[in-house]
Amino acid sequence: KLMKVFITRRIPQEGMKILSAAGVCEVSQWDSDEPVPRAELLKGIQGAHGLLCLLSDKIDAEVLEAAGPNLKVISTLSVGFDHLAIDEIKKRGIRVGYTPDVLTDATAELTVALLLATARRLPEGVEEVKNGGWSSWKPLWLCGYGLSGSTVGIIGLGRIGMAIAQRLMPFGVKRLLYSGRTAKPHAAEVNGEFVPLDTLVSESDFIVVSCSLTPETQGMCDKSFFSKMKPTAVFINTSRGAVVNQEHLYEALSSGQIAAAGLDVTTPEPLPTNHRLLTLKNCVVLPHIGSATYSTRGVMSALAARNLLGGLQGTDMPSELTL
Ligand code: GLV
Ligand code: GLV
Repeated sequence: KLMKVFITRRIPQEGMKILSAAGVCEVSQWDSDEPVPRAELLKGIQGAHGLLCLLSDKIDAEVLEAAGPNLKVISTLSVGFDHLAIDEIKKRGIRVGYTPDVLTDATAELTVALLLATARRLPEGVEEVKNGGWSSWKPLWLCGYGLSGSTVGIIGLGRIGMAIAQRLMPFGVKRLLYSGRTAKPHAAEVNGEFVPLDTLVSESDFIVVSCSLTPETQGMCDKSFFSKMKPTAVFINTSRGAVVNQEHLYEALSSGQIAAAGLDVTTPEPLPTNHRLLTLKNCVVLPHIGSATYSTRGVMSALAARNLLGGLQGTDMPSELTL
């Protein structure tokens, strides 16, 4: 008898092909590019043995209750898992698959692109070209900050943080600082210096947030954090929006306490178009596209499908989260 699987969105065909070729499950899907309404999720998951979800789906006790006792595996098309109620999932003996590694390069590239775009004011420049603000080559116009000779601070030197560091060093970075729970042996490859968070914040010209969202990191970048930054420093976040107190960030940017910020993640997502942060020229906001290359999304889809199959069949999952 075929096992039931619910997929919360239209996903790249790579994963769909793997699931149909396996011939072990009957798939129902929210067949849209837009998020599944909560009521449809609660209905769709009833009796399911497996769930394939996205980072925009909040999987909490209510969803697990609605699923019932069949549910064996949750496979998320993401490296982050802060949208999953891990304690509730663990209590029920459900396995979790996720997609680390395969999106590391794409996310690191996007982070570098966002850092350069923010520091060198690319969105402002593009806008000036279009609106007629470009009147001449001007010595004092649209100046920003360069990486050469700078100090970069990475908060969370995990897989993605490390890939960001490796890409930034060739720009002539002088010092690479990092902070986190523990010193990382692999930091030696990028001459990374493990320092307390306060030191990183006060000494860096570029601060890159690349940690996961946990109770410890939630709201970590707040008033006190921004007040320690150099007024010429640039703040970049490609991890999770909730690591940042956005009201405090707005104050720091609008008062000139810090130079600029580039965010690929916000709270909420999407950020309302009338949000205050979007009125600031020194704030570059992207719509959470860190892993968005065609090939990476295809590979993520395939990995999520294989994780799901492993969980359904009680075999190894290529990327199982240790709960
Ligand atoms: C992206 O933010 C992810 O968690 O995959
Ligand atoms: C800039 O284009 C220069 O020639 O300095």
